[in-house]
This record gives sequence, structure tokens and C-alpha cells, in this order.
Amino acid sequence: MSELPKLSVIGTGYLGATHAVSMVELGYEVIGLDVDQAKIDLLRAGKVPFFEPELPELLEKHVNGGRLRFTTDYAEVAEFADVHFVCVGTPQRPGELAADLTYVEAAFRSLAPHLDRRALVVGKSTVPAGTAVRMEALLQDLAPNKEVELAWNPEFLREGFAVQDTLRPDRLVLGVHSDWAEKTIRSAFEPVIKAGTPVVVTDFATAELVKVAANSFLATKISFINAMAEICETTGADVTQLAEAIGHDARIGRKFLNAGLGFGGGCLPKDIRAFIARAGELGVDQAVSFLHEVDSINQRRRARTVDLGLDLLDGSYRGAKVAALGAAFKPNSDDIRDSPALDVAAAIGRREGQVMIYDPQAIETARAKQPELNYATSLEDALDGADIVFLLTEWDEFKFMHPGVVGKLVAQRKIVDGRNVLDPVQWRQAGWQYRALGRP
Ligand code: UGA
Repeated sequence: MSELPKLSVIGTGYLGATHAVSMVELGYEVIGLDVDQAKIDLLRAGKVPFFEPELPELLEKHVNGGRLRFTTDYAEVAEFADVHFVCVGTPQRPGELAADLTYVEAAFRSLAPHLDRRALVVGKSTVPAGTAVRMEALLQDLAPNKEVELAWNPEFLREGFAVQDTLRPDRLVLGVHSDWAEKTIRSAFEPVIKAGTPVVVTDFATAELVKVAANSFLATKISFINAMAEICETTGADVTQLAEAIGHDARIGRKFLNAGLGFGGGCLPKDIRAFIARAGELGVDQAVSFLHEVDSINQRRRARTVDLGLDLLDGSYRGAKVAALGAAFKPNSDDIRDSPALDVAAAIGRREGQVMIYDPQAIETARAKQPELNYATSLEDALDGADIVFLLTEWDEFKFMHPGVVGKLVAQRKIVDGRNVLDPVQWRQAGWQYRALGRP
């Protein structure tokens, strides 16, 4: 092995594409693989197939620089790299709580038979506890070189901050079974470790669990503050002030205490559900039964948002022009997986509201999933003649709207702030009927 190992990244979705390009930025030679030829063609042309700040510039910088290439060929990957990062998705199985491991298994089964020299395979995908040992056995079965080893290295990047989180992660978690595996994976993160990133070296089961535990904690924190919002709504208290006040306690912390429409995306919702399913299989359902509650508090916020609008429209959406601001599950992303914003817009549509959705980045992804809804090409188009406005994703473009300017575009000054980002005093002074989650 030369000084820095050569890397492969298998799966070029959000995680894989970001990991591949960031590792080149850190000085490595990297090959990215995907079974989707269209995705590979885009990446080869220097185009990122999804919206992620900073990534397009970084890809453009490196795509023709000689240290980054893309392929659909597992044999090429096996020949090239010393360390293989498996970054494929583990979505929720349709109609079930459990995660679908088809792509993880397929990646291991496709790669292993080509591994005829010493190599480290590193699992990065979010998986139920017990998956890594199964993948280790699979490698031992299918790889011609019996010195192929496995490590588990969960990923904690956030969409919208994916590049920063990869170049400067909070911590590295390395699940390993041998000194060689530890030494090798450390060499694959050398610049990150040298920069002072804390490293936790552990076993496979712990490495797998750290990831789902972290996401469960974050989801619980959000649902906790949203449960407080429910109480605030019946007592006349203000959840944003409550969050600020408890957040000053360093043991609690202010982050992830933003009450509103709740969490969505491709990770938090499916990870807590997969955790519930896995705990059930292991016979420890009770240990995570609170996650059912976390999930249902989260879902209730969506229904409550729809109800707030109903209050403002005297009990019916029928025929009302509704401006839905936001489709992405959070700002700085075009991801609409399990998006609370899109869910609320669709629910209002089912109640015969004439919904017009605008999002700065997620119109195309939203239209692909929900073609029956209407999409505006600009904020002004969405607001034009609206009887009610819903702020559903807290993009800056919406956070900094001026109530007077917006007031001139709409038919009625009625707004539901689903993310608690507007100043109620300012909007009410401008003649708006303002409603929010957890605030009087
Ligand atoms: C989440 C984790 O934060 C990452 O650490 C993890 O790596 C990732 O999942 C993953 O498993 O891959 P992400 O899904 O990108 O990252 O988004 P977050 O920033 O965690 O936000 C999740 C949802 O919670 C969003 O819908 C957001 O609007 C909502 N949220 C967040 C709140 O409702 N309130 C808050 O205070 C914070």
C-alpha cells in the first residue's frame, strides 16, 4: 500500500457522492461506483444529481483533475482501491417499519468476488444492529482473498451541510475487528484525524448502534419540544421562549429545539422506525417503545398545521387559494422524502384547497413525487391572490419576507407559520391574522 490508500466509494447518492468528492479534496485518489449509469454520466460530466451547497464547486474542481473517476464496473473498483466505502441507501421497506437492506447486500455480493488482493471494506450505510457481522461472513464466503476485512464507520453528515460535515466531522466512529483494520481505516481518514477530530474505536454492534442512537436522540429532542408546543397551545404559553429558556441550560442545549412542523427527510423518520423494528426482532421492544410516541407526536404536528389554516378559513378549504411555501423537508435541500411541507400541502389539496407550492430548489423533486399538485415558478406567483399563506420550510427567502410587500400580493392577510420563523408582532401590526405552532 502506498502512503495514502486508494479509495472507492460504492453508491453515489447524497452520502456517497459527497464522500467521494470530499476525499479527493482531502488528497486521496478515489473511484466512485453506482449501478445507475445515468447518475455516473452526470457525475463524469461534473454535475451533481441533487442539490447540495458547496458540492458542485468541489466536483467541478476535481472532476478533471486526475484523482477522481466514476464507473459502473465492480471489477475496476476492486482492482483500483485498497479501501472500499459502501455508501448505498437503506430506505424504509414499503408498508413496514424495517429498513430495506437489499442495496447493502447487493453491494457486498457484487464487490466481494472481485477482491483478489488485500482490502478493507468499510460499511457506512445506516443499518440495523447485527448487519455488519452478516456482511463480514459474506465477505469471508465470497472474496477469493481471505485477507479481505470489514470495518463499520457510520456517517453523521447533514444534508445542506454535507461537505463541511465530511471534511470536518464532529467525530469518527470506527468499528473494527483487528489492528490491521484499525490502522487501515485510520490511514483513510488521516487528514481528518490529524486535524484533531475525536476518534472512537469500537466493535461492530456499537458502531452500528451509535448511528441509530444519535438519530433517535435528535428525533426525540424535536418531538419533546413539539410535545411542549402542544401544551403551550392549550395554556397560552410560547414554545419559542420556552425553548430559549431551557436551552440556556448547557445540559439541555438550544440546538434541535425548534418547534414547528417536525422532522422529515430520508433519515430521522425511517431510522427510528427501523430501530423499533430491530428492537422487536431482538425481543427488547420496550427499550425503544417511546420512539412510537416520538413518531406520533411528529405526525400530529402536520395535522395541527392543517387545522390552524382551517381555523383561519372558517372551517373549510374548499375553493380557497392556498400558497404553500416550501416542499423540501428542510432548507438548503431539494430532498422531499417524508417532507412535512409536502405532506401538509397534499392534505390541504385533499380538502379541496387550490394549493400552489413554491420552493427555491425542490419543485422538480416534488413534482416527480406528487404530480397532481400545482407548482409556482416564483414566490410571487405562489402568493398572487392567495386566501391564506403557509410557511412550511424555513428557506431564507421566506424567513425574510416583508409582511407589507407580501400583503400587497395576497387576497387575504392570513398566514400559518409552520416553522416559527416569523415575528408575530411585526406581521400582526401589518394587518395579518398570524397563527403558529405552540405560540399564541
Ligand atoms: C440527520 C442527522 O442530523 C445527521 O446527523 C445524520 O447523519 C442524517 O440525519 C443521516 O442519518 O444521514 P438530516 O436528515 O440531513 O440529518 O437533517 P436534520 O438537520 O437532522 O433535520 C431533520 C429534520 O428535523 C428536518 O425536517 C428539520 O426541519 C427537522 N428539525 C430539525 C426540526 O423540526 N427542529 C429542529 O430543531 C431541528
